[in-house]
Amino acid sequence: MLKRTQTCGQIRLEHAGHAVTLCGWVNAYRDHGTGLIFVDLRDRDGLTQLVFDKEDASPELLEQADKLRNEDVVAAHGIVRKRDGGPNPKLPTGEVEVVVTKLEVLSKTANPPFLPSDEKNLPNEEVRLRHRYVDLRRPRMQEILKTRHRVTKLTRDYFDEQGFLEIETPNLCRSTPEGARDFLVPSRHQPGQWYALPQSPQLFKQLLMVAGCDRYMQICRCFRDEDPRADRQAEFTQIDCEMSFVEREDVMRTMEGFVRTVWQGVLGVDVPAMDRITYRESMDRYGVDRPDRRFGLELVSITDLAAETDFNVFSQALAKRKGVVKAIRVPGGAEKLTRKLTDGYTEFVKQFGAGGVPVAKYTGPGGAGAETGGFETGIARFIAPIADKLVERLGLEPGDTVLFGADSYAVCTKALGELRLKLAKDLGLIDENKWDFLWVIDFPMFEYDEAERRYFALHHPFTAPNPDQLDAFMAADKNDPDAVEAVVSAGYDVICNGSEIGGGSIRIHRQDVQSKVFDLLGLSEAEAKEKFSFLLDALRFGAPPHGGIAFGLDRLVMHLVKTDNIRDVIAFPKTHTGMDLMSNAPGAVDKAQLRDLYVRSTYTPEAKS
Ligand code: AMO
Repeated sequence: MLKRTQTCGQIRLEHAGHAVTLCGWVNAYRDHGTGLIFVDLRDRDGLTQLVFDKEDASPELLEQADKLRNEDVVAAHGIVRKRDGGPNPKLPTGEVEVVVTKLEVLSKTANPPFLPSDEKNLPNEEVRLRHRYVDLRRPRMQEILKTRHRVTKLTRDYFDEQGFLEIETPNLCRSTPEGARDFLVPSRHQPGQWYALPQSPQLFKQLLMVAGCDRYMQICRCFRDEDPRADRQAEFTQIDCEMSFVEREDVMRTMEGFVRTVWQGVLGVDVPAMDRITYRESMDRYGVDRPDRRFGLELVSITDLAAETDFNVFSQALAKRKGVVKAIRVPGGAEKLTRKLTDGYTEFVKQFGAGGVPVAKYTGPGGAGAETGGFETGIARFIAPIADKLVERLGLEPGDTVLFGADSYAVCTKALGELRLKLAKDLGLIDENKWDFLWVIDFPMFEYDEAERRYFALHHPFTAPNPDQLDAFMAADKNDPDAVEAVVSAGYDVICNGSEIGGGSIRIHRQDVQSKVFDLLGLSEAEAKEKFSFLLDALRFGAPPHGGIAFGLDRLVMHLVKTDNIRDVIAFPKTHTGMDLMSNAPGAVDKAQLRDLYVRSTYTPEAKS
């Protein structure tokens, strides 16, 4: 085989006159009948134009060239020269071409399912996933893979400099309660017993701190059997970290440094010191715990004003436990928000449990609806008594629209938070060139679920109360949801442009505190012992104060390469039904394999339903 001397992205004018050998895929083939045949040769690095000169080349070489098809794999040897037809400014190699003297066809391709060079005519994602090896040849995908590599390299270097050790933890383990469903693996040696694939290495990294490892990191796979979404896969990668003898500030400072290093290293972007807002403030103002602050449209409470009206939508909401009324001001909404859009919003919020979105256009003191305080709306007469105060509270200008939400705090904030995002997209308010990073802190430790009548941990059950809350936490009576919900944790999430790129906390390192958490979560002492005796034991045998975080590597890369599809940043991703379309996983297994594992299939999908 001809020996490669350079890659297809490396040849420049300085190589003119040199003999080179390039290897790659035929990206394009052009015979204009001018005596020259042009072939663009592509590899991971770029494209170089090859030329076959019909006058000089041997008949054998021309015959070989003539038979080339897109995606054939070849090695081409020849002499570099300045491009005869003038430079192509779009290519880094655009000033040169290689006049081929020898060609070796390394692999003929069958008719390809699609052409990686033809970005404009790509088939649907299913076809691309089925032939992922062709899809990954696309320059865009190669760029993404390179960026991902760059991020993992920067990650390892950064944490190494900060004194972290990369330590691997098992993939076959006991289930840890991170909140999702486990993937289970049957044990052959222990009939009837099951491993769980880790939803994260949470407990192992804590045990590494008890083991004296001081600073740990790992780029690790995590498995959560939940429905994939645009930014969620069942199998994903975390940059997982843990530190001993630290407080929240120390972890946050170290991790901000990490984010800064990655954004600087990949994009050359300076990430300024990150703002911090409390969970409560985030929920109040943005209706979510991962706010996107690249645009306004904040939620404003008008609960006190709503109480002054006779509007039954408001009064019914206020009669609920933690009932609230909130409003969003849409500047210039009277013109921008069509009736069709606002009707759609009523349907939209129903999926979050809200009844609808009353809408009011503000026309100003002299405008239509002047007799009801300047509002033009079906509910004008209800809001007339509070019209002036509304204008002042929301800072309304003529031409603005107000959207209202009225329900329990949880439903109202959720519905308006989602609506806020939808509005921003519909109105094109998001500046895609902006970077907005922030920390969300002071999460409640627990939320009480009325329907299930039990508490849930907002982070995970190993998250410590904030140090100033420890006494309140230990004293909180589990029958008093208000007291329990008032306890704030030492958890923190890091948010980038409205997406959670990382989350962590200072951990519990005292056995009595950990036992109290298990108790609040409804785990009996026996159950806690059964599931977590190793952790509770470890906490008895000298546990240092510790805390950490995990970043979603896939999500970091999504932001860096600007895609909203997580599958784009994973070489071999799964579809939304958990399929690998290329290898056809999951698939059936032999009966004998099941027998070895003492597993008998009892449920068919029909039987389950
Ligand atoms: P958490 O569950 O918040 O915390 O996960 C940490 C980060 O991992 C990313 N992430 C995901 N990315 C893609 N697909 C998924 N299904 C998925 N789930 C989570 C997110 C998230 O911020 N053990 C704790 C961390 C800790 O406390 O140190 C944990 O796993 O970016």
